[in-house]
Amino acid sequence: MSILFSPLKIREMQIKNRCWVSPMCQYSSEDGFVNDWHLVHLGSRAVGGAGLVMTEAAAVSPEGRISPSDLGIWKDDHIEGLKKITKFLKLQNCVSAIQIAHSGRKGSTKKPWEGGSAINKKSGGWDLVAPSPIPFDNKSSIPTELSKEEILNLITNFADAAKRAELAGFECIEVHMAHGYLAHEFLSPISNKRTDEFGNNLKGRMKFPLDVIREIKNVISNKVILLVRISATDYVENGWDLQQSIEFCEELKEIGVDLIDCSSGGSSTLQKLNPEPNYQVPFSSKIRKEVGIKTGAVGLITDSHQAEEILRSNHADVIFLGREFLRNPYWPLKAKKDLDGETDAPDQYARAI
Ligand SMILES: Cc1cc2nc3c(=O)[nH]c(=O)nc-3n(C[C@H](O)[C@H](O)[C@H](O)COP(=O)(O)O)c2cc1C
Repeated sequence: MSILFSPLKIREMQIKNRCWVSPMCQYSSEDGFVNDWHLVHLGSRAVGGAGLVMTEAAAVSPEGRISPSDLGIWKDDHIEGLKKITKFLKLQNCVSAIQIAHSGRKGSTKKPWEGGSAINKKSGGWDLVAPSPIPFDNKSSIPTELSKEEILNLITNFADAAKRAELAGFECIEVHMAHGYLAHEFLSPISNKRTDEFGNNLKGRMKFPLDVIREIKNVISNKVILLVRISATDYVENGWDLQQSIEFCEELKEIGVDLIDCSSGGSSTLQKLNPEPNYQVPFSSKIRKEVGIKTGAVGLITDSHQAEEILRSNHADVIFLGREFLRNPYWPLKAKKDLDGETDAPDQYARAI
């Protein structure tokens, strides 16, 4: 049997396989609510055989959205709609996961297919916040530097969001600490120039993200598995890098994070990278070996044999697929046939296999 289609046990949870849906913004919500789009979109990938399906980034506060159409989990009213999704995923023997996030200085923008430019307050946008008043690029507005009180409120926002996620039936929570959004902004010396306890040196830059994880661990039950997505490097000199990521992941492991989802980049327009198949796999491999924690590899992984080889070489424990799952929600059905000569399609589809 392939490793890709062998189960993975994380604490008490058995996950049927190791091809998982990477979080992908759908920009299709109103006031943060899920709707039929989300049910069909996420549900299709569960029907298609993914072992775990993760929602897009769900904002922990209205100002934590990237666009006004982002998914949200900042109020109790959001729970009911999300329940419908977790219930459906469970019926497909698929683990339901939610990514919780705050966009920081990269918020208040239009949807990508409307150009993705900044939206001002008059047009429904909002004031940006960040560890330091440094804009992401020359088109974004200058964020307000967060006060200590506001930082503590944000930690509570993350914890409240995690509580709601569990109430909505999610079995897995991933905290988004990558791609130049708020938690990554605290980690990276490019965006964090603070001189107080939430900056100054590596320990200070890690404080907000680690406090968020500690608080989440305090409020969720130990039935829920906890993942963190990091950007392993900024690809910028004197920025966040793999060595700092390793130290950060050691702390995350200590607090009880179950798996690191290893992405990269997003904090600077000066980043130098050439994305090619497997380009982020070395980050997963190194963190897995050095820290001794489970990792997920992501980024331009599209082929079943490619995915299997990454796992067989001990570079990762799971594979996240993003765009390939948008192209083909049934990717795992075909991949299992390729690797194992059989497949486990839902009964309703059996006559087509
Ligand atoms: C439409 C789209 C939306 C995305 N939204 C998110 C998101 O909400 N959170 C996140 O961490 N990454 C997001 N990503 C990044 C993906 O999760 C993934 O890491 C990236 O696309 C690389 O994997 P791939 O080559 O398999 O697509 C998004 C990517 C796409 C294409």
